[in-house]
Amino acid sequence: MLSKRERVLSGMRPTGSLHLGHYHGVLKNWLQLQEQYDCYFCIVDWHALTTHYDDSASIAKDVFDMAVTWLAVGIDPQKSPIFIQSQMPEHAELHLLLSMFTPLSWLMRVPTYKDQQEKLKEKDLATYGFLGYPLLQTADILAYNAHFVPVGEDQVPHIEFAREVARRFNFLYQQELLIPPQVLLTKTSKLPGLDGQKMSKSYHNTIALNDNPSVVEKKIKTMPTDPARIRRTDKGEPERCPVWSFHKVYSDEDTKNWVQTGCRSAGIGCVECKGPVIKAINEELAPIQEKMAHYHAKPDEVSAILNEGALEARKTAQHTLYEVKKAMGLIYE
Ligand code: TRP
Ligand code: SF4
Repeated sequence: MLSKRERVLSGMRPTGSLHLGHYHGVLKNWLQLQEQYDCYFCIVDWHALTTHYDDSASIAKDVFDMAVTWLAVGIDPQKSPIFIQSQMPEHAELHLLLSMFTPLSWLMRVPTYKDQQEKLKEKDLATYGFLGYPLLQTADILAYNAHFVPVGEDQVPHIEFAREVARRFNFLYQQELLIPPQVLLTKTSKLPGLDGQKMSKSYHNTIALNDNPSVVEKKIKTMPTDPARIRRTDKGEPERCPVWSFHKVYSDEDTKNWVQTGCRSAGIGCVECKGPVIKAINEELAPIQEKMAHYHAKPDEVSAILNEGALEARKTAQHTLYEVKKAMGLIYE
């Protein structure tokens, strides 16, 4: 019944609307992975609570929007269950069981623990739940005995931590039951934000996947260009211009040559140069937004997909939990 393909698990915290950085950096990667592996994609709402326990009112909406977006970009629930973490008691149970033998010192030295406390100073993150963040993530992964976890650079310590926990379990209970997961490093997105920095909501430099064509146009039109090109007659240098990074993602060779030559000779203006980028982004977004509208109009369809995803995922998670409990001496029959 259980397939022989290697498993991949990934999760994303439901935080507001996703942007082009997520699409190019993460979701397109998932689309490929779902062809090659048994993928499980989890909306990790408990993880959102670890930092937003005091303003959880929007979680339900954010979870729904995230599911809609995943579906709209082409995550196929027939291939890969998509599901909500908090609908999976197995994750919580495994988290608890793992917590019994996870040294506090391991949790306290995970870099994000102190980093995030520093960064989010206005929040009191000296909580039990926040300290346990990486262990909950570990449970998400180990519940499926996932071989691979596609994540960005910043998450590598969390996966290393999960490996250590899996090994400790195997050592303590004398069996090779839990697979120490490996990182599938997601190359950082070639698409920067509108200002050339990493695209991130907190930098206010994003193009959201649900930005409509006129918003996209406006955002690109007001995007900074090579600071040396003050007047139309000034020559520019694409390498110093964030618009060029967009051309590198979106434009064909002819267009890129046109940009390079035109910019360096002041043969084209920046407004002209941005035209093909606006067009390409809107063409990319149109079918995605069409599907988003479809799912937004059919919330029941989305709920059904999430429920089925949870049922499907649970088959695997329950199997793991049974084995784990057996190894720990907790099966009473
Ligand atoms: N910690 C991850 C992040 O901040 C989210 C996450 C939770 C996750 N559980 C996971 C990622 C399991 C991969 C696998 O992005
Ligand atoms: Fe940037 Fe294009 Fe203007 Fe050159 S012409 S500075 S690449 S927007």
